[in-house]
Amino acid sequence: MSSGSEVDGSEVGVNVFVGTGVIGKYFFGFCVTVGSGAEARAGNVCVGTLAGIWRGKGVEVDFPVQAMIKPQTIKVRINRRFIKAKYSGGKLINDEILCYTRTMAYHGLLHKYGTLLDLPSHTRIVSLLEGNTPLIKADNLSHQLGGGFELFIKYEGLNPTGSFKDRGMTAAVSEALGRGAMTVICASTGNTAASAAAYAARAGMNSIVLIPQGKVAAGKLAGAIAYGAQVIQIDGSFDDALTMVVEITNKHPICLVNSINPYRIEGQKTSAFEICEVLDSAPDWLCLPVGNAGNITSYWAGFKQYNQMKSTGLPQVLGVQAAGAAPLVSGHPVENPETVATAIRIGKPARGEQALQAAEESKGRIIAATDAQILNMQKTLAKLEGIWVEPASAAGLAGLAIEITNGTLNPNGKRVVAICTGHGLKDPEIITKDMQKPSIVPPKLEALEEVILG
Ligand SMILES: Cc1ncc(COP(=O)(O)O)c(C=O)c1O
Repeated sequence: MSSGSEVDGSEVGVNVFVGTGVIGKYFFGFCVTVGSGAEARAGNVCVGTLAGIWRGKGVEVDFPVQAMIKPQTIKVRINRRFIKAKYSGGKLINDEILCYTRTMAYHGLLHKYGTLLDLPSHTRIVSLLEGNTPLIKADNLSHQLGGGFELFIKYEGLNPTGSFKDRGMTAAVSEALGRGAMTVICASTGNTAASAAAYAARAGMNSIVLIPQGKVAAGKLAGAIAYGAQVIQIDGSFDDALTMVVEITNKHPICLVNSINPYRIEGQKTSAFEICEVLDSAPDWLCLPVGNAGNITSYWAGFKQYNQMKSTGLPQVLGVQAAGAAPLVSGHPVENPETVATAIRIGKPARGEQALQAAEESKGRIIAATDAQILNMQKTLAKLEGIWVEPASAAGLAGLAIEITNGTLNPNGKRVVAICTGHGLKDPEIITKDMQKPSIVPPKLEALEEVILG
């Protein structure tokens, strides 16, 4: 294989020798050698398992499952390039560069943190290079809230499907694929649906998503459909949909990927790890929205684990629910939750107990913000910092503003991280429905001057 002009550094070659046999549990299917020049050197010979990933120095080979008699397609990563190459009888038929990785070093969450996560050995990585999201310093907003403290936004809307759900989904779908599951299912207020559908598509699996009728933002529904999910609307709430997916997965071999799946929690812990790595310690306060309470559970577990390993300390956790869907604040389930922040429109959080425990152990609390306070913060964040998030994602910051105004949280000299869980593009209608229509001018300079300069 010629590496072509795109390659930085020396030419690399990949060669495949076909042969079959069984050594213990290993299927001795083919050997891949990687070296310089069209004739690859035998220095990096490896034996493939039936399917899996082999990694060497700067090289990664993704083995196919097919029998050796068929022409083989292998995927190889050489430094920053992913290459797909097809071989028959040891001869290269064609090859193609699939993509370049974002950075030399980053290959997704399970590559980076897999050893820190409690995942079974059969896990087979399905990744869209999720995670590694920016922690953005928000001085303008900190100033607006009274100043005197450092505020950072963990912008989770920059994950591949636009929300933090991808962190947990890479883990849940990787585990499901590794154990041979063909179909995943979830109940969703939208973001889980889009994420499950994307990762299932990448893994070659089917996805089914149950959503509350008419209560899912357009960008999320569109995502689930685009990624090929079977979308089913339930004439009921998210909580009804969750009960139904639990029941159906107890009865049929379909894999549940809601956050009651423990691997979702494992994957979502990684955001806490990233924050500690960037700041060199945990923040003093962590503010985040709470719906079904999987995320707050994950963050607390992640910070505790990282602290045990590296003594990075623990944050106080401020969980924020929408006032119309605040069972953890009122202390009882909400039968008909209502809020514009549709992502957290949940009346019976599956991990409510763990959320309350995280708040208590961290000496934090869970509070409620009204829709008006949430929407106001959404707009303020976009205008002051250029960060547009969906309504639910602004709830953590809205809660912070409430606490500071009430004098119940003194941020002076502190470091605060707010988790902004999903991108604003997920729910554009919340902005466009009330907006003043942009003015229309004829295509003449004078007309434009008139509008701009008056
Ligand atoms: C954008 C967004 N923020 C926050 C949440 C709440 O997360 P959790 O249900 O894990 O509490 C969700 C859940 O769907 C979400 O989509």
